[in-house]
Amino acid sequence: MQVKFSDTIPADARLIAYLANKDDLPVRLERSVVDGAAAARFKGNPGQFFESFVERDEAIVRVALAGMGDPDASANKRAEGLERAGAALAAKYLSSGETDLVLDFEGTGLDAAAAATVLLGVRLRSWRYDAYRTKLKDEQKKSLVSVTVVNAPNGTDAAWQDAAAVAEGSEFTRELVAEPANKLYPVSFVERCKQRFEGTGAEIIVLDEEEMEKLGMGALLGVGQGSEQPSRILAIKWNGGNEGDAPIAFVGKGVTFDTGGISLKPPAGMWDMKWDMGGSGAVAGAMLTLVKRKAKANIVGVVGLVENMPDGKAQRPGDIVTSMSGQTIEVLNTDAEGRLVLCDALTWTQRTFKPSRIVDLATLTGAMIIALGKEYGGMFANDDSLAEDLAEAGLQVGDKLWRLPLGTAYDKMIASPISDMKNIVPREGGSITAAQFLKRFIEDDTPWAHLDIAGMVWAEKPGRTWDKGATGYGARLLDTFIRNTAEG
Ligand code: BES
Ligand code: MN
Ligand code: ZN
Repeated sequence: MQVKFSDTIPADARLIAYLANKDDLPVRLERSVVDGAAAARFKGNPGQFFESFVERDEAIVRVALAGMGDPDASANKRAEGLERAGAALAAKYLSSGETDLVLDFEGTGLDAAAAATVLLGVRLRSWRYDAYRTKLKDEQKKSLVSVTVVNAPNGTDAAWQDAAAVAEGSEFTRELVAEPANKLYPVSFVERCKQRFEGTGAEIIVLDEEEMEKLGMGALLGVGQGSEQPSRILAIKWNGGNEGDAPIAFVGKGVTFDTGGISLKPPAGMWDMKWDMGGSGAVAGAMLTLVKRKAKANIVGVVGLVENMPDGKAQRPGDIVTSMSGQTIEVLNTDAEGRLVLCDALTWTQRTFKPSRIVDLATLTGAMIIALGKEYGGMFANDDSLAEDLAEAGLQVGDKLWRLPLGTAYDKMIASPISDMKNIVPREGGSITAAQFLKRFIEDDTPWAHLDIAGMVWAEKPGRTWDKGATGYGARLLDTFIRNTAEG
């Protein structure tokens, strides 16, 4: 979606949108709009929408109103209202046949950042993945290609450049999440990232199986060994901060398909496991935003990429693997594979980059969805200030997080009679014991947070700035976290 700026409403405009605060229309408009909106109970609530056709200069134009809600709401609520206003317009006109939306900021009193937030809402909500749809009828195709901004607050242009980088990252996350597993597997995930980051100044590091073998990553390799698709580790490194400053590390679970392995999942719903790489999708998307906007911070994004398949070479329940850290793991259930991938990715990340803070993201447990539903991602942390920073960033962008406990009693539950630990326990507290497992791989008490985002990466219904399907969860969260902390 292209954003253009114009001093006046173009003479050939067919679709013109205005933004309304709660109970407050910003400009004088035709009676059919004003009275029509009142009759339709349009109140300017966040994301509320109204449309009327009016005659202007002998042409019939569509006039739309989008609600931003209460201007005096808290900053986070206000940002949500602004995004929802933009998103409502995109949802309505994406495949309406209209190609350009004129968005008139007259009378809104918004500043540049707020205007860019509305535009971000338009852009994010107009993302749709049609790559595999060859039979779309004309009226189903995406028609909206541009937004013409009129009466933009001073500086909206620059603010939009920044917001566009945010959008690009979220869109990349969604694309990776939406791709099916026959198109997106470890090697093609790496290829796609190489393409996207080409010429950006980011450094790309890839480990193949031979290198991982040498490093002793028996846990990660054990998960991938039942697949025809070779496993990979990918690191995307961005040095935008002071030379020598320890980087912040993001680590993503990238199981490009999770059949469960020999502990095979039941068929119903197994297709969902194409998005079992949602953690790594969030990391790659966040890195794209950070790199595109040239963030003034040192950051490294690491993703552990494997496909979890059952075959003659697959690992068996009861197998014992040795992780890169040297700790041994009894694999009682091959479907608890995410922690096996992450533990080696975490060890490698720490030993290679010596990060100051680590955040891992993973669609790790179904139990997380049972606990929190699809409203909050679960957060576990060994450090209160890191947890607070992440929770705050999440509230700002709507990628909400809720913290859950860690503790030695939970840690004891993963003891194994034959090795250092086992990869499953009875069901109670399943998300917590998974987090405890990961905690055993954090060295020197480095501040670390684990985000279990199993419920967040895929939506059954439209949300704040997304349609049903891939939400892009996590990309904006991590970007905002960096803005507030490393750049703040
Ligand atoms: N990828 C799944 C978790 C998951 C389930 C994510 C549903 C999103 C939606 C993970 O690898 C898994 O299979 N976890 C098991 C762990 C169990 C075997 C201890 C689970 O949650 O059932
Ligand atoms: Mn699994
Ligand atoms: Zn999984």
